[in-house]
Amino acid sequence: MKLWNNNIYGSISWALKRKVTTKILRTSFLVLIILILGIATVVALDSDKANALDESDCLSCHSDPMLAKPIVGGGSIPLYVDGDEQSASAHRYIDCTTCHTTEPHSVETPLTKASLAEKCGSCHQYQYKLHLDSVHGEQLALGNPDVATCVDCHSENRSPHSIIRVLEHNATAYKKNIAATCAVCHGDGELMASYDITEKVYESYMRDFHGKAMELGGTELSQLNKATCTNCHGAHNIKSVNSEDSPVGTLEHLAATCEGCHEGAGEEFASGFLGHKQTSASTVPVAYYVEKFFIIMVWVIGVIAIGLVALAAIRYASQHRWKE
Ligand code: HEC
Ligand code: HEC
Ligand code: HEC
Ligand code: HEC
Ligand code: HEC
Ligand code: HEC
Ligand code: HEC
Repeated sequence: MKLWNNNIYGSISWALKRKVTTKILRTSFLVLIILILGIATVVALDSDKANALDESDCLSCHSDPMLAKPIVGGGSIPLYVDGDEQSASAHRYIDCTTCHTTEPHSVETPLTKASLAEKCGSCHQYQYKLHLDSVHGEQLALGNPDVATCVDCHSENRSPHSIIRVLEHNATAYKKNIAATCAVCHGDGELMASYDITEKVYESYMRDFHGKAMELGGTELSQLNKATCTNCHGAHNIKSVNSEDSPVGTLEHLAATCEGCHEGAGEEFASGFLGHKQTSASTVPVAYYVEKFFIIMVWVIGVIAIGLVALAAIRYASQHRWKE
């Protein structure tokens, strides 16, 4: 046979004429393309994780967790910067010296919460101006450290080096996480009591339709179309709810706020909204008694159902015993 005549060229041309060979070649070609695409993706993703810009090699000293600056009169300020955090942050392509000047050691640390906002505001002027005028920013300017500055809403650990883009799913300002971010302060009973603000805003929001739907829904932005805190109060421009400028301050404003999503809602629709008020016999008697009625009804039905199941079980058991 021709095949066995030691002619390599002949064997190859024989093989090439087989259908099986074409199939094998096609499959290998496909596998090769998939492999190349895979490697390219891994490389591309990896380059996104590139180290934060650090052109002056500041991290050679500041990556030391023990680095701290003693304060006159005792205590110290930690000067550790977590390189991994900075590398995952929205500012990873901004060099340390862009924010810290080329002579960082001639600037005193720490700044106050207000001057921190000012520092962020040197680049983010739009958000800074809105924040200055907000209930949080006004208090910051008066030296009140309890209110929110930029890092309180934009960083998990309130560090200027771990600010994550707002559209990343793990960002504190990502829509699904906003309620929890506000609740760090607004769920703190003691802090809120000292301002005479109800501490139940988070709890009541989570009981409300919007909060429940948001919690049960997915994490994709398209599934997060329900209202969260910032849809009713704003984000950088939050005002006291008693102020005329607040989007929930007057019934007219509240209706406009609902209309942003509920087309043609109108004032009547908005006036039915209880806000964060607990229903009570004196504030909203109808809602209060209806809620009580449903709670009692659920219990009664529950008890009857359990009773019926128990009776059936007893009957079944006793019938089986008699048979034996
Ligand atoms: C040779 C080590 C070293 C390098 C390199 C270094 N630092 Fe420092 N840095 C320190 C020490 C030590 C302190 C504490 C200084 C003190 O006690 O006053 C400090 C303090 C600071 C402070 C607080 C300023 C203050 O005095 O309150 C900042 C901000 C800072 N460094 C940023 C940087 C940046 C940005 C770079 C890179 C451009 C950098 N450092 C490079 C060692 C270093
Ligand atoms: C987007 C701007 C920005 C970038 C980029 C940045 N920092 Fe900072 N950094 C700040 C702000 C704002 C503060 C808070 C100032 C304060 O509290 O005194 C701060 C504080 C610090 C402090 C004082 C300790 C602290 O955590 O409060 C050190 C040290 C420091 N930065 C070093 C660095 C180093 C090193 C880099 C580069 C790897 C870097 N920073 C990159 C904005 C930035
Ligand atoms: C009370 C919480 C809160 C505070 C305080 C806050 N932000 Fe935001 N920020 C948000 C939320 C929530 C978003 C997401 C978009 C939105 O709802 O407007 C956001 C979005 C942003 C964005 C993305 C662009 C945009 O406007 O959507 C930037 C930049 C930003 N904030 C910077 C800042 C700076 C700088 C400060 C301080 C001066 C600050 N933020 C203070 C909650 C806050
Ligand atoms: C030197 C200028 C500069 C300073 C100072 C600065 N930023 Fe930024 N910030 C930027 C730039 C530029 C981007 C956009 C980065 C990108 O798109 O790659 C950004 C992105 C952001 C984002 C993400 C925006 C989005 O669309 O999701 C937030 C939030 C933010 N910064 C908050 C802050 C806060 C808070 C501070 C203070 C701790 C601060 N920035 C300080 C320049 C700055
Ligand atoms: C659907 C709109 C809506 C949403 C969502 C919402 N609020 Fe409110 N909020 C209101 C209205 C209306 C009021 C004024 C009536 C009241 O106090 O209940 C109010 C009042 C407040 C007050 C002032 C309470 C007081 O005692 O003075 C705070 C603080 C507050 N909200 C925070 C939040 C936080 C934090 C969230 C998210 C966890 C949130 N709100 C979600 C509409 C909303
Ligand atoms: C770091 C803590 C902190 C965070 C985070 C924070 N707040 Fe506040 N907020 C406060 C304090 C403290 C006050 C009271 C200020 C005052 O009355 O002087 C306040 C006031 C308010 C008020 C005005 C209440 C009134 O009296 O009418 C509203 C509305 C509000 N915050 C909404 C929000 C929302 C929405 C978020 C999240 C996007 C948020 N806050 C995040 C601390 C915080
Ligand atoms: C950011 C958008 C947004 C805002 C602002 C908003 N809602 Fe909603 N709301 C929704 C979405 C989305 C649903 C779910 C609709 C559905 O699935 O039928 C919903 C559902 C509801 C429901 C229960 C279901 C229904 O359709 O009857 C009530 C009641 C409600 N909203 C009242 C209000 C009131 C009152 C306001 C103003 C204070 C308001 N909402 C503001 C997005 C919003």
